[in-house]
Formats: sequence, structure tokens, C-alpha cells
Amino acid sequence: MEFFLDTGIIDEIKEAMHWGIVNGVTTNPTLIAKSGRTQEEVIKEIVTLIDGPISAEVISTDKAGMLKEAESLAKIHDNVVIKLPLTIDGISACKVLSDQGVKTNVTLCFSSNQALLAAKNGATYISPFIGRLDDIGHSGMGLIEEIRTVYDNYGFQTEILAASVRHADHVREASLVGADVATMPLKCMKSLFKHPLTAIGLEQFLKDHQSTLS
Ligand code: G3P
Repeated sequence: MEFFLDTGIIDEIKEAMHWGIVNGVTTNPTLIAKSGRTQEEVIKEIVTLIDGPISAEVISTDKAGMLKEAESLAKIHDNVVIKLPLTIDGISACKVLSDQGVKTNVTLCFSSNQALLAAKNGATYISPFIGRLDDIGHSGMGLIEEIRTVYDNYGFQTEILAASVRHADHVREASLVGADVATMPLKCMKSLFKHPLTAIGLEQFLKDHQSTLS
């Protein structure tokens, strides 16, 4: 399972990039806005830090506009993945980009039928938003499971990128149901390392080691 950082904040990427577990980065217009910089500036810096897929989202709502944006985003670096919304225009643009060999991430996915459309048009990644489904009383993880079944039924290569991941249990469950990637905020990634028994055990080991010195 790959881990992506879901952020537009360079300092967060710098904090995690040497842990060895960050395989890529996802951004969206909200995350870019939080950085206080333009998308172009942020993406240009991220590609110098992480050698992996970096998702940058288009803001046009029409196919022609999306393709124009995709062209300039893809020019930034080979690792840039074009993030497209799950609309008729987004899915149509996905087909054009896939045929050109440009990597895509279809975002704002909330149903397995939507995920099927993205896969049919050759999306590299599909991003089901699990936290936002949980927020409205639906099962985000149930959706990941459904998409896994649909993709396996037909042998689609589109990778399931669990997005809107809010806490460590989302990561645990997504790994159990076979998501290919989980993108998460830095806070969530850090929490994966933690267990109270690890902290207690380490404290005891260090104390016992000290006792052997005097
Ligand atoms: O990058 C998209 C997604 O991860 C957003 O998450 O927490 O705003 O629902 P959230």
C-alpha cells in the first residue's frame, strides 16, 4: 500500500519526506489555498522534494479548459498527475489524457458507478472520499470495498486511492479492504507510528539500560 501526503504545505512535506514511507503527494484547491501560494508555485516545489506522483487539480469545469490546464500542469514535471472532478467533462477529459499517456486522478468520487466510469476511461487513480461519506452517515469504507470488487471483477488497473482519510483507523480499514493508496494529512500519518505500549515499553527499556551503567 502506498502512502501519499494530502497537503499543500511545504514544511509538512519536509517533515515527513525522510521517513521513507511517503510515496507521493495529493493537493486540491482548498489545500493550495491554505498554503497562501499559487498552485504552480507549490507544485513546482513539491516535485523537487518527493520523487513520486504529485496530484494537481484543474479548476475549469469544461473539458476544453481542463485539457488546457492539464497541458500546462503536466509540463511542470513528469510526476505531475492531473486531478479531474467526477463530472461528464472530467471523465471525458480523463479519456483524452489517458490516451495521451498523461496520468490522472479522478476526484470527488462517492459511488462505485462513478469509480467504474473513471476506470473505463483509463484513470490512473480514483479518489473515493471516505471521510466525507462517513460525515453524512454513509460508509466510506463500504465504498472502497465495493470499488475493489468492481475493479477486480473486470481487471481494471485504476488504483484505488482512499482520500478524505481522517484518522488511523481509516488507514487500517482501507489496508484491510485492499485500497492501493491512502492519502492523508500529516497529523494522521504521524499517528500511525504511535501506540501507548510502544511508548511505555521504550521508557522501561531505557530506564533498565540506565540501571546497568551505574
Ligand atoms: O484531497 C482530497 C481529500 O483528501 C479531502 O479530504 O478531509 O477535506 O474531506 P477532506
